[in-house]
Amino acid sequence: MVKSKGWNWKIVKDEKEEFWKTPSVESYYLLNRWREQNKKDFLDLGCGLGRHSILFGKNKFDVCCFDISKEAIDRTKEWAKEENLEFDYKVGDMLKLPYNDEQFDCIYCKNVISHTDTEGMKKIIKELDRVMKHGCECYITLLSKDTWGFKQDSWPLIDENTRLKMQEGPEYKVPHFYVDYNLIKELFKDFKIINIHQEIEYIEKQNSVLESYHYHILIQKY
Ligand SMILES: C[S@@+](CC[C@H](N)C(=O)[O-])C[C@H]1O[C@@H](n2cnc3c(N)ncnc32)[C@H](O)[C@@H]1O
Repeated sequence: MVKSKGWNWKIVKDEKEEFWKTPSVESYYLLNRWREQNKKDFLDLGCGLGRHSILFGKNKFDVCCFDISKEAIDRTKEWAKEENLEFDYKVGDMLKLPYNDEQFDCIYCKNVISHTDTEGMKKIIKELDRVMKHGCECYITLLSKDTWGFKQDSWPLIDENTRLKMQEGPEYKVPHFYVDYNLIKELFKDFKIINIHQEIEYIEKQNSVLESYHYHILIQKY
C-alpha cells in the first residue's frame, strides 16, 4: 500500500490561507440538515486548518478534529482558542482511526480520503463504517477520473486508480485516488447512498484552464 502523506500546511499562507479558512459551499447545507436531525457528535476527518470544525463548533456540535498533519491540528487549535471553542484533537492516519466503534452522528471528509490508493481506500471505508453510529451520515468528496490530474502520464501510477501528484505545492507527492460512478457504487455498496453529485472546477493556470471534477457523496449507515 502507498505510504500516507499529509499536506505541507507550512507553505499555505495569505490568500491561500484565507481560502482554506472559508467554509465550503455545501457545509451550510449539511450544517442545516444535521442540526435538524439533532446530530451532535461531529468528526472533521482531515480537518486541515479547521474551517468546518469552527463552523460546526460555533453551532453547538461536539467536534473532533483529526489530521495526519500536526501543523494542521496546531493551527486549528489556535483558531478555536481565538473563538473560545473547545474541541477534541488527534493527529493520526485515517487508515486507523483513534475513535470508538459507533462514536459519531455525522462525519465530514472534504477532499481527504482520496489521499491514498485502492487498498487504502477500502481500509478507510471500513474504518468509517466502524466509527459511524447507525443512521450516521458521512459527506465525502472523491476525485473523478475525468480530472486533469489523472491524465498526467508523467505522474507515477500507483495502481489503476491512483497517481502520486507531482505538482509543486502543499500536496507534492501526496497520493490521489480517482473514481468513476461504478467504482463509487462498488465502494459504498454496504451503505445507503443518499446522493451523488459531480462538480467541475475550472482552474486558470498561465495560458490554460485545468478542469477538476469532484464527486460529492452523501452516505448513511444502515
Ligand atoms: C485538501 S486538505 C482538506 C482539508 C479540509 N478537509 C478542508 O476542507 O478544509 C486534505 C487534508 O487531509 C489530510 N490528510 C491527508 N492524508 C491523510 C491521512 N492519511 N490521514 C489523515 N489526514 C490526512 C491533509 O493533511 C490535509 O489536511
